Amino acid sequence: MHHNLSGLRKEYSVQDLSEEKVNPSPVVQFRHWFDEAVNAAVNEPTAMTLATADPEGHPSARIVLLKDFSAEGLSFYSNYESKKGQQLTHNPNAALVFFWPELERQVRLEGKVNILPSGESDSYFSTRPYESKIGAWASRQSSELSSRESLKNKVDEFTSRFKDQTIPRPPFWGGYRFVPHLIEFWQGRPGRLHDRIQYRLQDNKWNISRLSP
Ligand SMILES: Cc1cc2nc3c(=O)[nH]c(=O)nc-3n(C[C@H](O)[C@H](O)[C@H](O)COP(=O)(O)O)c2cc1C
Repeated sequence: MHHNLSGLRKEYSVQDLSEEKVNPSPVVQFRHWFDEAVNAAVNEPTAMTLATADPEGHPSARIVLLKDFSAEGLSFYSNYESKKGQQLTHNPNAALVFFWPELERQVRLEGKVNILPSGESDSYFSTRPYESKIGAWASRQSSELSSRESLKNKVDEFTSRFKDQTIPRPPFWGGYRFVPHLIEFWQGRPGRLHDRIQYRLQDNKWNISRLSP
């Protein structure tokens, strides 16, 4: 049984984007768009799709939350032994995608992922709510669980283990930094003639070009 969705169409006409309009620095450009996403009350503006691949090139993708960005890269947190964690250990090449529908915008990034210095992960972990700290210890992310109950038992186990104690960061949980070498800003336009402005890092310099929609 097919569910034909071809009648669901949307025209994009909110804004435009040009080579002249974008900032020479993709980080500054990202900052502008990110602030506009926040101001436009985009739902979960920090949510980004992270695509990774195993050593044979089989891809997988999932949402993670952006926690910081700068000229050094974009950081997010996860379980180092999860599926994504294992893939990144063997293959640091990755891609990120943001979709901010209220602004008819997409940002795509390609790059490599490194593990954040442990001090940075410790600082971030210490700011997490109590339940999230226990949750990080309790969940062997991406491994099979026999039941919801067994997860609850793990939560109880770590709750008593760390009773009246500062909860340390689990050694298998922490931050990653995504270092881009390609960033594309996509602005939806009428008639599918969208604006696509791409930054490519060449010889330590960001070169800007327009891509066909
Ligand atoms: C809105 C949203 C935010 C999420 N944020 C994170 C996150 O920051 N870190 C994380 O590890 N998983 C996050 N997840 C869960 C992941 O999408 C995924 O289920 C999990 O990381 C396991 O992925 P893996 O098995 O491919 O490693 C989030 C999911 C959603 C829908």
